Amino acid sequence: MANAIPVYADNQAAKGFGIGKTVELFRRFAYVEQSCVRALAGWFLRVPAWEAKIKLGYYLYAHAERAHELTGRLEEMRGGHRDANIEPALDRAGEEIVHAPDERGFMSGLAVVLRRQADVYRAYLAAANPAANATEIRLLHRLLADVEREIADIAAFGSVNPASAEEPGNAWGLYLGSLFDAAGGIACSESRSGALLPRPGNERFDWTVPMTFDERIRGDEFGSYESKLALPLRERCIGEFEVYFNELYAAAIAASVIADSWRISAPRQYFMDIAHHFWDEVRHSEFGAIRLLEHGVVPDKANMMLFEQSRNMPLLHRYCYLTLGLEIFFMPRKSVRTRYYEEQGDVLSTLFADVDWSDEMNHVRYGKKWVDHFLQDDHRTVEDVQAEISQYLENLNKHLPEGKKAPW
Ligand SMILES: [Fe+2]
Ligand SMILES: [Fe+2]
Repeated sequence: MANAIPVYADNQAAKGFGIGKTVELFRRFAYVEQSCVRALAGWFLRVPAWEAKIKLGYYLYAHAERAHELTGRLEEMRGGHRDANIEPALDRAGEEIVHAPDERGFMSGLAVVLRRQADVYRAYLAAANPAANATEIRLLHRLLADVEREIADIAAFGSVNPASAEEPGNAWGLYLGSLFDAAGGIACSESRSGALLPRPGNERFDWTVPMTFDERIRGDEFGSYESKLALPLRERCIGEFEVYFNELYAAAIAASVIADSWRISAPRQYFMDIAHHFWDEVRHSEFGAIRLLEHGVVPDKANMMLFEQSRNMPLLHRYCYLTLGLEIFFMPRKSVRTRYYEEQGDVLSTLFADVDWSDEMNHVRYGKKWVDHFLQDDHRTVEDVQAEISQYLENLNKHLPEGKKAPW
């Protein structure tokens, strides 16, 4: 199917792509990248091993960044509406990525998509006109290298060999591949395969899925922020980096925002910012795991209460709660931590606390920008939305022990 591009180019009088053809292709490329972002947000919640969650966090950001580059070029080329121009067959293939029956199926499906992306980006590069398509060539060289890195990473990390993701024994990979073939491939070949394979099983991804962990992680409390301040360095570091590890809850809220933003109309920077926010929280959790393991402590607890309780809120309220509620509530602790570790000469803790602090300030900035954006045609103010969030949280606070209110 990747041959569609050379076939097209060979049929032209001159080697290369006009604006119309590049726009058509880039829209499809961007759509497939964005489909992977959504699917990865879902599977971040569902894969049980925290190491795998962190990996998926990195992959999600990579797909979001590539989608952002492609849509950026589309904006320069009179690209048309991103979603209104997607044909149903490609939509079906993109939509189906998330509905894999299990983790192995999902990783195989992701590998199938990545290999097709690498093929199609390579094919465009081979057929492009070095002068007329110079911008696309630079862009796709970057994207291709990034896709190839992700394929290599999946091969090194996982139970799935990307090279055999579409071989017998891998029913989901084969099926997903056949869906893309039926859509003419990512490049939209004129000759379409009619051999759509039967769907293996009826499994559909359940978006109300809780954050899943394996048996190593138990639900637990972390003690108060204040209770850790008087501890000796090692104990305080362990206590605080357990809290960093638990930022998986913030990543989970951000993942749910990404999933629910799938079809909303927003500037392309919004999609980049929520992906960036999500990935930062994943990395903050990784900071926690790294530092705990260095102290000989295996991460073994998590508390997803704030995530679970935010799920009954609309997207706007959930995003506002995360960025302009929780982030602001926890912000004063960030500088204290950074300074403390610096004074103690704990170099790596200082580095992680410093980066976390900076990232969190960005998250508040994103929140102010996008909550304002979503309120543009709204009769309510940010304060009104915050009052509504308090209503949502009332139910949560009723179930919390005395003196322990949900941060707001
Ligand atoms: Fe964070
Ligand atoms: Fe944050």
